[in-house]
Amino acid sequence: MAYIREIITEGHPTLRKVAKKVDLSEIADPMFQQLLDDMFETMYDAPGIGLAAPQVAISKRIFTVDLQDDDEAHGPLVVINPKFTVTEGEIESVEGCLSVPGMVGDLTRFEHVVCTGLDRNGKKISLDGTGLFGRCLQHEMDHLNGVLYIDKAKNLRPAETDEEVAEAEAVTAGAR
Ligand code: NI
Repeated sequence: MAYIREIITEGHPTLRKVAKKVDLSEIADPMFQQLLDDMFETMYDAPGIGLAAPQVAISKRIFTVDLQDDDEAHGPLVVINPKFTVTEGEIESVEGCLSVPGMVGDLTRFEHVVCTGLDRNGKKISLDGTGLFGRCLQHEMDHLNGVLYIDKAKNLRPAETDEEVAEAEAVTAGAR
């Protein structure tokens, strides 16, 4: 059974902490696996395409991603203790975040990243991210470092056009 957890918003101190690395011995703990199940439930309920553990007030280096685009490379994915091994190029994007409700902003992200980490069984994974997937990985990684997109965004504004509202509400526990 998975449960929807509360998504905390800007102003909550946990969003500003550098999250702690997950110890390998934690991964098999049923409570840890429950957290992962709850993160997916919370992300799908939002609905969002990415959710970082600090957004549910758990200061650990974990995020979930599911672009829900029928490409299994895009999720459902759990990434524990992620690291970028490749960051290259630049791409302009509009992002929102469920922890900053109703707002969007423009920012520059890497066009291509390779993210390594562990899956929910503690197995090593490597994810190649471009486009929306790559931006989502970067947005979620920022959450693990206490960074919100609003720290980097220009032209931060209330979501107004249909497209912006979609960015801010429909798909953005993570990035879009
Ligand atoms: Ni976010």
